[in-house]
Amino acid sequence: MKFFLDTAIIDEIKRADDWGLLDGVTTNPTLVAKTGKPFLKVAEEIIDLLGPERPVSLEVVATDYEGMVRQARELAKLGPNVAVKIPMTPEGIKAVKTLSEEGIKTNVTLVFSPAQALLAAKAGATFVSPFVGRLDDISMEGMKLIEEVVTIYAHYGFETEVIVASVRHPEHVRQAALLGADIVTLPFAVLEKLFKHPLTDLGLDRFLRDWNSLPEDFKPDFLR
Ligand code: E4P
Repeated sequence: MKFFLDTAIIDEIKRADDWGLLDGVTTNPTLVAKTGKPFLKVAEEIIDLLGPERPVSLEVVATDYEGMVRQARELAKLGPNVAVKIPMTPEGIKAVKTLSEEGIKTNVTLVFSPAQALLAAKAGATFVSPFVGRLDDISMEGMKLIEEVVTIYAHYGFETEVIVASVRHPEHVRQAALLGADIVTLPFAVLEKLFKHPLTDLGLDRFLRDWNSLPEDFKPDFLR
C-alpha cells in the first residue's frame, strides 16, 4: 500500500520523506490556500522534493472542459510526476479522456459513489479519489464505497489506482489496507498517529529500565 501525504505544507512533506514513508503527495485548492504562499512556489517546491517518480496531485480550478484541459496541460508541464486533479463532473470526465489520450496523468477527485468511480476508470484516469471522511460526516459509510470500488475495478481489471482520500484517523488506514486499496492519502497528523500505541511506549520504558538495572560490567561497550 502506498502512502501519499495530503498536504501542501513543505515541512510536513520533508518530515514524512525523512521517515522513508512518502510515495506521493496530494493537494487541493483548500490545502494550497492554507499555506498562504503563491501556488507556483508551493507546487514547484513539492515537485522538486518528490523527484521524477513520485506523483504530486495538483488540481485545476476551471469547471468547463476547455478550461480544465488547458489548465491541466500547463500543470503537467511543471514536472513529469504531476497528476492533474479533475473534479468528477461530465465535463471533467470528458477532460480526463482527452488528457489520458495525451499521456497526462489524472486524478479524479470528489468521488462519492461507485458509479462515479466506474466513470473515472472508463475515462482512463490514472487515479481515483473516493472521499471517505466526508461520507462518514453525513452518516454514510465511507469505507463501504472503497470496498465497492476495489471490487468493481478488480472485476474488470481497470488500471486506475484507488486513492483513499478524506482520511480522518488510523482506523480508515487499517480498513483501507484490509480492502486492498492501492493508496491512502494522509493528513500529516494521521500519519503521525499510525506510529503510536501505549503498549509500545510502556514496553520500551520497561526494557530500558530492566537493562539499566544490570551492573555496568555486564554490558558490552556498544550497548552502553
Ligand atoms: C484528497 O485528495 C482530498 O484533497 C482530501 O483528502 C480531502 O480531505 P478532507 O475531506 O479532509 O478535506
